[in-house]
Amino acid sequence: MSQSSLWLDTTERQPRAPLARDVGVDVCVIGAGITGLSAALELRRSGASVAVLEGRFVGAGASGYNTAKLSALHGLTYAQLERRHGLDAARAYAEANQHGVERAFELAGQLDIDCDLRRKPNVTYAETAADRDRVQAEVAAAGRAGLPASLVEELDLPFEIAAAVSVAGQAQFHPVAFLEGVARELERLGVTLSEGTMAVGVDAGSPCRVRTATGHTVAAGSVVVATHLPFLDRGLYFARCHPERSYVVAAPYTGEAAGEAMYLSTESPSHSIRTHELGSGTWLLVGGESHKTGQADAQERYERLERWMLERFGVQATMRWATQDQMPVDGVPFIGPVDHVSANVFVATGFRKWGLAMGIAASELLAAWVEGRDHPWRSLFDTRRLRLRAAAGSLLKENANVALRFVGDRLVKRADVDSIAPGQGRVVGQRLAQRAVHRDESGELHALSARCTHLGCIVNWNSGERTWDCPCHGSRFAVDGEVIMGPAVSPLERREPPS
Ligand SMILES: Cc1cc2nc3c(=O)[nH]c(=O)nc-3n(C[C@H](O)[C@H](O)[C@H](O)COP(=O)(O)OP(=O)(O)OC[C@H]3O[C@@H](n4cnc5c(N)ncnc54)[C@H](O)[C@@H]3O)c2cc1C
Ligand code: FES
Repeated sequence: MSQSSLWLDTTERQPRAPLARDVGVDVCVIGAGITGLSAALELRRSGASVAVLEGRFVGAGASGYNTAKLSALHGLTYAQLERRHGLDAARAYAEANQHGVERAFELAGQLDIDCDLRRKPNVTYAETAADRDRVQAEVAAAGRAGLPASLVEELDLPFEIAAAVSVAGQAQFHPVAFLEGVARELERLGVTLSEGTMAVGVDAGSPCRVRTATGHTVAAGSVVVATHLPFLDRGLYFARCHPERSYVVAAPYTGEAAGEAMYLSTESPSHSIRTHELGSGTWLLVGGESHKTGQADAQERYERLERWMLERFGVQATMRWATQDQMPVDGVPFIGPVDHVSANVFVATGFRKWGLAMGIAASELLAAWVEGRDHPWRSLFDTRRLRLRAAAGSLLKENANVALRFVGDRLVKRADVDSIAPGQGRVVGQRLAQRAVHRDESGELHALSARCTHLGCIVNWNSGERTWDCPCHGSRFAVDGEVIMGPAVSPLERREPPS
């Protein structure tokens, strides 16, 4: 079964060359997902010279592998946001996200991007009466935050619900077609967009110097790190967010039971549902089965999601894909300076699986930071905030989990090489000598160091995607050790296969 995403599979992407010389620009943007490309466009349009560095290719990160809803309604968010951060914060959050939705329409119109952009209501539904109060509280809180939220008791889905919150004026799109359209406009405006160019370090200064794995540097007045989780450890974002991976399965769909809106359930594990009209046919997409990256079996999660789709809609999945997003400790993304001392290096991360509208909105905030302008959303998303009351529980829980993995995974008894089936991988060996061993389909063994090149946790085999995933901060590596997702920037080191 295909494991590419529907979005990457149905876009004619234009390959771009790696950075082949040293360059000097006003702003270097690192990462060509929705946040990086939107930020590059904002900055270029306001007159800055811009270079974009992308480690893999446009849309290779979370922006190319999601369910592609553009929305300000994010599950059940507003009641909690208001309780933790206050009503003004909830209003700013709603305003930023709705602005991101509207901006997607503006950009698609201005740049003539054919990306299946279409208005739909977004709905969060509860199947059980136990969640009815939470849904009602969300309707009220989302309304106070300024969204047109209403309570609904029946949906056009093939099962009963207890209650739902529905917000009109949201949208869905084809994210990779949108990204390609923005990328082409950037190139038309003279922006250098280099793919296959991993940034490995940023020396802050005037100018900043961005070092790349290809050996070339970019000298830039400011740097925007839009790499999902920043690969720079300063700012400690790896300790202020945790990575959650979730899955999407899809199939061509001719029925009428999948509703006219976009849906997300309140239960755990939650389920996301929507259809997408593509060419002459319709696809049904179902998402869910989240877990902390590197800490569950992907194959089992895919199978559970496929069973759910078959049971609820009578459709067998023909495509599957997955990605992860960063969950911030206090529930609010981080957008602003990387730390207290590097005045011209900026980051945007922690989008909690809702970074499409928010990534577009973030680009305006990033441009304001780079240009030294104030912005109405600045204090809510400020990276230097300290809201201990809102963050403490999650901060302690997630960092205790990382500490446990760092120590515990060195001590567990490891697999025997003989137990590794063709196409599979296991960690073998003891303590510091642990190796990540993969047996290819022909039976040959390939070994890598099992120590993640970020901060040294022991990677785990992901059987559903055939990758090595780090259970601490979510770095992911291919079977040859190459980085698929950071914060790591260096590959796993090769080792001698066990005999
Ligand atoms: C299953 C799932 C479904 C989702 N569905 C939705 C949805 O329906 N709606 C929604 O709003 N959000 C959704 N999200 C979240 C959303 O996809 C993300 O929040 C968003 O795409 C983040 O965009 P980004 O540009 O910040 O990061 P990314 O898209 O990950 O882009 C980062 C880029 O940086 C590159 N990079 C990384 N490190 C380096 C480096 N060192 N040097 C150079 N380049 C580097 C990567 O290759 C990547 O291309 C979903 C998330 C998941 C897990
Ligand atoms: S991602 Fe941080 S140790 Fe692996």
